[in-house]
Amino acid sequence: MLLGEFHRGRRLRRTPTLREMVRETELRPQDLIQGYFVVETADKDFERPIPSLPGQSQFSVDRLVARVGTAMDKGLRSLILFGLPEKKDPEGSGAYAADGIVQQAVARLKDAYPELVVVTDVCLCEYTSHGHCGLVDAHGEVQNDPTLDLLAQTAVSQARAGADIIAPSDMMDGRVAAIRLALDEAGFTHIPILSYAVKYASAFYGPFREAADSAPAFGDRRGYQMDPANVREALREAAADLAEGADMLMVKPAMPYLDVVRLVRDNFDCPVAAYQVSGEYAMLKAAIANGWLDPKRSVLEALTGIKRAGADCIITYFAEEVLEWL
Ligand code: PBG
Repeated sequence: MLLGEFHRGRRLRRTPTLREMVRETELRPQDLIQGYFVVETADKDFERPIPSLPGQSQFSVDRLVARVGTAMDKGLRSLILFGLPEKKDPEGSGAYAADGIVQQAVARLKDAYPELVVVTDVCLCEYTSHGHCGLVDAHGEVQNDPTLDLLAQTAVSQARAGADIIAPSDMMDGRVAAIRLALDEAGFTHIPILSYAVKYASAFYGPFREAADSAPAFGDRRGYQMDPANVREALREAAADLAEGADMLMVKPAMPYLDVVRLVRDNFDCPVAAYQVSGEYAMLKAAIANGWLDPKRSVLEALTGIKRAGADCIITYFAEEVLEWL
């Protein structure tokens, strides 16, 4: 081959300005949704750092409102809330109580920051004494249909509190339909559903379950969350949730499932979200703390990879930190 005949890809990599000109993927502040943990406690000044999620804490409502204000000054536009109730019971009643911890936090946040986009996670696992995402029968089986009404009640109570987006993560069949119907009947036809449509039974939720105190007391979640080995099944889940009325689809976790993000992106034209879960955050933080990875470069590369795979927005515990770099 003669000189000049081969591909000279380096021509467009020569300077930072040239590289920027041809860059295909860009992480934007509005793509990022920060996850927060809020605790029901009489101590208004409560903040407890989460050991497995360095930099993240469990907050009282007051502390959360203050923390979110600081993050918004840096450009944060959206967050998702997870609640730790004072008491748990087999029915997870704290999830759908009008004055439940998430409902209180949403109301206070929207009051303080009307422009903030507040996403609420619909699930029972943080509120049930057994830690499962639905009602459990005498044999320890998680009951699908009897759970749907409770999930619908949870969604409506969150919308009443002021939530902007309802995000069911429980993986019960038919929950999007049940939630859509209940929201519409309660007058919330304008509130979108971001379905955790493609949610795998993942080991990478470990730190979250410690942070949200939501590990199942017996068994595991493989009877309702997806098998990590499956990808065609993701299409069935996504199609079902769209048919039931989901406005946006989520794939979770992100990094071990980038092929699934791409597949969902290519097969559906609704917005797609990906969740960089607690274990992904913990892995990066641990390597960074050891000096094994450069913080800014590794975190931006991981998030850019998720966008490049096709995610329009990303739930991540890195959002606050990344906003300082964008
Ligand atoms: C369930 C829920 C979980 C996460 C978000 N919503 C945990 C689970 O399914 O066990 C995990 C998020 C993370 O690991 O960061 N309500």
